[in-house]
Amino acid sequence: MIWQELKKRKKTALTKRITSLFEGPKGRLADFSIEFDGLYFDYSKTSIDLPTKNLLIHLAHAKNVGQYREEMFAGERINFTENRSVLHTLERNPTGPEIYIDGETINHEVQAAQTSFLNFAEAVRDGTALASNNNKFTDIINIGIGGSDLGPKMVSKALSPYADGPRTHFLSNIDGAQAFDCTKSLNPKTTLAIIASKTFTTLETMRNATQIKKWLRNVIPEESVGEHLCAISNAREKCLAWGVKEERVFTFGESVGGRYSVWSAIGLSAAIAIGKRNFRQLLEGGKSMDNHFRTAPSHINLPVLLALVGIWHNQVCGLSTRAVIPYEERLEFFPAYLQQLEMESNGKVTRQDLTALKLPSGPIIWGGTGTNGQHAYFQHLHQSNIITPCEFLVGARGHEDKLQTHHDYLVANCLAQAEALMCGTVSKDSSDHNKSRPKYRYFNGNRPSTTLMYQLLTPYVLGQLIALYEHRVFVEGVILGINSFDQWGVELGKGLAEDIFPSIYRKKENNDKFSNSLNELIAKTHAYRDRGN
Ligand code: F6P
Repeated sequence: MIWQELKKRKKTALTKRITSLFEGPKGRLADFSIEFDGLYFDYSKTSIDLPTKNLLIHLAHAKNVGQYREEMFAGERINFTENRSVLHTLERNPTGPEIYIDGETINHEVQAAQTSFLNFAEAVRDGTALASNNNKFTDIINIGIGGSDLGPKMVSKALSPYADGPRTHFLSNIDGAQAFDCTKSLNPKTTLAIIASKTFTTLETMRNATQIKKWLRNVIPEESVGEHLCAISNAREKCLAWGVKEERVFTFGESVGGRYSVWSAIGLSAAIAIGKRNFRQLLEGGKSMDNHFRTAPSHINLPVLLALVGIWHNQVCGLSTRAVIPYEERLEFFPAYLQQLEMESNGKVTRQDLTALKLPSGPIIWGGTGTNGQHAYFQHLHQSNIITPCEFLVGARGHEDKLQTHHDYLVANCLAQAEALMCGTVSKDSSDHNKSRPKYRYFNGNRPSTTLMYQLLTPYVLGQLIALYEHRVFVEGVILGINSFDQWGVELGKGLAEDIFPSIYRKKENNDKFSNSLNELIAKTHAYRDRGN
């Protein structure tokens, strides 16, 4: 019923220009922007009007977002396909209210795990934990993939102004080119390898870890290689069996999903780079967003509103892609991070009651930093006939005081893009319709965007941003009725790759279980290899 009402609102919205919604004595900002703890969210440049906003809020209530939210925070097993709780929020607040799993409180365990990895980060930084040649570690390689890579990589880059520890490097791909490039200029004698894998079974990570161990062994005596290794996992026994020393295994709870794990020991490489104090600030920012999400009424609740904007664009208006464009070069990996967060969480059609979702599932996330994108794909954003809602992020200040003019231009460009997307070349007086303008120079505008502004990209602000998007994805998932916390869709291809591997490795004959196309591609691989250079 509410969905049908929303579809009607969409029809009404199509008859109006976004700019027309600003007419009237009050303007629009009072109802379509909010500010919380130094974050300003402007969603006025969308086709959402007040009746639509109220309907969307009504939808969130009808889908029991508040109830599911409390179940998540309380440690209920809301990830029902894996029979798990969802407790990344506990990582930011282990000293908060007691959470019980199977009758046992787990706060103490989470706190102890946190203290352990943060103390180790400090030990690496201050030289208490030394390399086997008694020198300080100069470089860290985080070996992990998916959530065990994207989170720490994104945070390390975003907070590089705070980095005063060893340099961090990230090795994720099974492609040997990355292992080669990553190690070619590093000195194994002063490098610490972190094997980050929740399951400690992931093909890419285990293969790369073995390769890096070999690389270390080439120059480090066998009995000292352990000084250069540590592991982050949920599977302690597997880490020990693989050869990591007991005191170098850092664990985190089963109820922290990979793409939600940057707050846990998975963040170790970032913590080594920026230090415990800054890492704690990241956690504080996340905690602040958690409190807001739990307590603010929906009409001023940032994650809820961000989610409702997304639902409006994707599920109601049928705009199924979403561009995330940070005007902040150090947020280079943020779109990729959000891509996993949103697409691995909500790219599904099976609902909690096992019926099929009839609406579009979560959106396609893509993007990159401004201003770079302006000189590449923005042409499509402004003039193609496919409308992509854009989400801009921008800091009012940069860290480089001496480069203030650069930053002024950066902000001006961000604001200009949002304005241009909305207004186009159509003047406010629609009778003046660019008559003299050649068609190819005409911009219809009326393209939606939101802008999220903060003062400066500090660890605290980054923590707020990550938690904001996590909760947004959660709200979208609840509204769609899907389980945002499993990822069964990644399994099929993984298994098939294992089946195909022997044919590539050992040049096997045709396999009649494979399609003709696959057998031919395998044959071509061998033919091309045999051809020489
Ligand atoms: O294959 C998908 C996935 O399970 C992600 O959800 C996860 O972040 C990634 O692989 C890495 O998993 P792990 O940390 O267990 O190596």
